[in-house]
Amino acid sequence: MAEHVFDRPPPGAAPDWTIPQGWGRFTQAEHDMWDRLFARQSAMLPGRAASAFLNGIEVLKLTKPGIPDYAELNERLMVATGWQVVAVPGLVPDEVFFEHLANRRFVAGNFIRRPDQLDYLQEPDVFHDVFGHVPMLADPVFADYMQAYGRGGLRSLGFGALGKLARLYWYTVEFGLIQEAEGLRIYGAGIVSSYGESIFALDDPSPNRIGFDLTRVMRTEYRIDDYQQNYFVIPSLDHLLKVTLETDFAPLYGALERLSDIVIGDIVEGDGVITRGTQDYARSKIAA
Ligand code: PHE
Ligand code: FE
Repeated sequence: MAEHVFDRPPPGAAPDWTIPQGWGRFTQAEHDMWDRLFARQSAMLPGRAASAFLNGIEVLKLTKPGIPDYAELNERLMVATGWQVVAVPGLVPDEVFFEHLANRRFVAGNFIRRPDQLDYLQEPDVFHDVFGHVPMLADPVFADYMQAYGRGGLRSLGFGALGKLARLYWYTVEFGLIQEAEGLRIYGAGIVSSYGESIFALDDPSPNRIGFDLTRVMRTEYRIDDYQQNYFVIPSLDHLLKVTLETDFAPLYGALERLSDIVIGDIVEGDGVITRGTQDYARSKIAA
């Protein structure tokens, strides 16, 4: 799937796999691409994105045109929560990824999509990684969650439970919804960085929207090739942090071994259903 998967740091990368961002090498056309994506997404996000996300855009001054220079971005992010963004050459091994998170470093792709990839690409680019993920890292509670996730990730490797834990990342960090006083909002990076999915996730009758439950989420399969068929809704970032910190995942991994996986799109007993989806979108894709 990914173009760049290595088993050791490629030439020019540090032992921790980081590379210089090389901000000066981006062309005007690449900066223009960022601006185009930024304008399209930021026009849509008021009333859709979580308040923590919108606040992060302001605090980090991401409204400045062009691909962000990490040196400048990191000064603001450091003040906000002590996180840093570091550039990597492509996908990195799980252990490397977790080690960075556990140390409050977010690894970001170092290329930007081409004009023919405006709406879809498989490998995360700088727009997904920086626009999608970094605003939430300016939120103190989410910042702690991501670090805890990194530590939990390192721990999961010892239990061979990475696949289960990855589902938690998927359904929160990438595709999470949050219940705010004014209504449902998106905070997952995969949604906020996608024009189509930022509408679909909130407005389309097709997907299920289900109250977040840790065990339920970790039993649920997910798809990487199209819009999600389930979204899980957290009541607050505090709740997400508290539940994950206070749960010892070791016995949970054991319990999950004995529980069956839940098929994408299914509703099961005990679900706190917020919207029961029609699944029409997913069905139309299968029929096509
Ligand atoms: N509490 C988890 C464990 O015992 C760690 C964790 C925290 C995992 C936050 C994910 C998110 O492994
Ligand atoms: Fe991502």
